[in-house]
Amino acid sequence: MNGQQVSVVVVQDAARRARIAELAGDQAWIARAPVFLAVIMDFHKTALAIGMAGRQQLIHESVEGLLMGGVDCGIALGHMMTAARSLGLDVVPIGGIRRNPQAMIELLQLPDKTFPLVGLCVGHIDQAAAQKPRLPEYTFRHDERYDASRLAGGIAEYDHTLMQHWQKIGQSDGLPWTSNLARSYARVYYPDVRPAAASQGLLGDK
Ligand SMILES: Cc1cc2nc3c(=O)[nH]c(=O)nc-3n(C[C@H](O)[C@H](O)[C@H](O)COP(=O)(O)O)c2cc1C
Repeated sequence: MNGQQVSVVVVQDAARRARIAELAGDQAWIARAPVFLAVIMDFHKTALAIGMAGRQQLIHESVEGLLMGGVDCGIALGHMMTAARSLGLDVVPIGGIRRNPQAMIELLQLPDKTFPLVGLCVGHIDQAAAQKPRLPEYTFRHDERYDASRLAGGIAEYDHTLMQHWQKIGQSDGLPWTSNLARSYARVYYPDVRPAAASQGLLGDK
């Protein structure tokens, strides 16, 4: 379909980055890194195109549209991270851009049918972080069909691995993966996303 429903707002202005840092939940690194890239799901641009073809866009009101826009923004983010690293720069992806979405929309002057999905700090890190271990590969890769039988064991194994990692790097407040994730996923951690998406015209019944 060649929809290209992604736009990027490049923020270099220090005062604007400081405000984004605040809105994202006091994430100081957003103010410190010289560049912040806001990845925007953009069905405004496509609606304009469809209007020019004499039709009215509907896809932005559908789950399919939101998933497609999210996938596209994720692909863009991943490539930006790889490109930045390949140029010797360092990055921090920022989901906190959705913490206060209405204020972010106003700050970046985003039009209707757009949404700030994710951000990226680009700059130079002071010290490289230790590589964080991931879940065992067998909880991720499935051959021919999904196998749920080893998941619980793999998750328990990962809790153990992660606690060893926290201990090794001296992070005394490090939690097991299960309880850390429960702190976020046992609630809707960014409850303002839904009303902001609705006021951008992005939530329909389709
Ligand atoms: C889409 C996305 C959003 C993220 N949002 C934030 C964020 O708002 N603030 C932050 O400090 N880190 C953020 N991170 C970084 C993750 O916390 C980090 O990638 C994860 O804990 C795994 O650690 P690692 O990348 O060092 O292996 C984000 C990562 C991704 C992929």
